[in-house]
Amino acid sequence: MAVEFSKKELSMNYRRLGRTDLDVSVICVGPMRAAATEPGNDEKSKAGELALRTALDAGVNFIHSSYEYRTRWMMGRVLANHPRRSELHHVIKVPVPDFTDGDHFEADKFRLRIEEALTDLHTERISVLQWMWRSMPNTDERRLPLLGQIIDEVVDIFHRMRDEGKVGYLMTFPYTVPCGEKAIETEKFSGLIGFYNLVEMEMADLFGELEKRDMGFLAIRPLYQGILTDERANQNSLRKGDRFADEEYAIDFAKRAKISEVFRDEIGESMTSFAIRFALAAPIVSSLIVGLNTPAQVSGIIAAAEDSSPSLQTVEKAREIWRSAFGLG
Ligand SMILES: NC(=O)c1ccc[n+]([C@@H]2O[C@H](COP(=O)([O-])OP(=O)(O)OC[C@H]3O[C@@H](n4cnc5c(N)ncnc54)[C@H](OP(=O)(O)O)[C@@H]3O)[C@@H](O)[C@H]2O)c1
Repeated sequence: MAVEFSKKELSMNYRRLGRTDLDVSVICVGPMRAAATEPGNDEKSKAGELALRTALDAGVNFIHSSYEYRTRWMMGRVLANHPRRSELHHVIKVPVPDFTDGDHFEADKFRLRIEEALTDLHTERISVLQWMWRSMPNTDERRLPLLGQIIDEVVDIFHRMRDEGKVGYLMTFPYTVPCGEKAIETEKFSGLIGFYNLVEMEMADLFGELEKRDMGFLAIRPLYQGILTDERANQNSLRKGDRFADEEYAIDFAKRAKISEVFRDEIGESMTSFAIRFALAAPIVSSLIVGLNTPAQVSGIIAAAEDSSPSLQTVEKAREIWRSAFGLG
């Protein structure tokens, strides 16, 4: 469904999220790096604020956030009096139990994460909860049995808050495919949320099962944190102070180089655009949670999302590359 907005040149596409009643924009704003962590008027925060306003003006109706990012103060400036405030859908991280909670689920803490978001984001309802169960160490060995032990308590408080009108749907970020399978089996979730891009394709193993069950999927970091962009064509030509300059990221740039080589024809003029179009190719993906820090980044990403996606054969080819070249490294 394409919806035109005002007189601007861009239009926004929306997709139904699994079997929910939510039609979300294919671009979901992720503000993790879009502001300083303390309120102020620094350049970064001003650009992030403008980016969020630009995205909303362009028809974005889906916003990701977490208390952990400490950027909600900036979002509040935009959202407090925004004319479309009541039409927006929020997806928030709810990590309970967190790493240091000793595998103990606390309903009060779950409620707190939601109540604080309602206040910070000036909304009456959080449409989607990205619930996460964390352990220390955060291994499958610990997390697989933990899910079964706490899921009834999670669902109980979720239902209570849903009855209060404060939350919409429960989804989860499973971290790994085995935990994703286990989460699907519980039948308690409307869908999964996970990393998905040309370099991180693990979660694609679950797409078939999600489709069969009419569950949704939200793809986090389609640009592989910013490495799959035209601005970061290789590690030697990064801007001074770029966050990927460190030697530890050499392996990620090697993966990027492999993608450039294998998909030269499909990429065409822009890696940024290809990465976005690629992540939207699988119909199960309802929306991409993208970090957008400036108005120019917003228009670039929205324009890319309007263009046609590569074929499902290209997606399959990417999975083969991932399995053979990236999956284990
Ligand atoms: N576990 C979790 O739940 C989890 C974990 C990580 C992230 N997240 C969420 O996912 C969101 C996205 O993650 P991410 O930001 O790491 O990854 P990403 O969306 O793959 O990459 C976003 C980065 O790419 C660059 N960029 C964006 N638009 C661009 C454009 N048009 N042209 C060129 N470069 C562009 C920006 O970096 P520069 O400004 O530095 O160039 C931006 O920070 C976060 O904001 C957060 O909301 C969730």
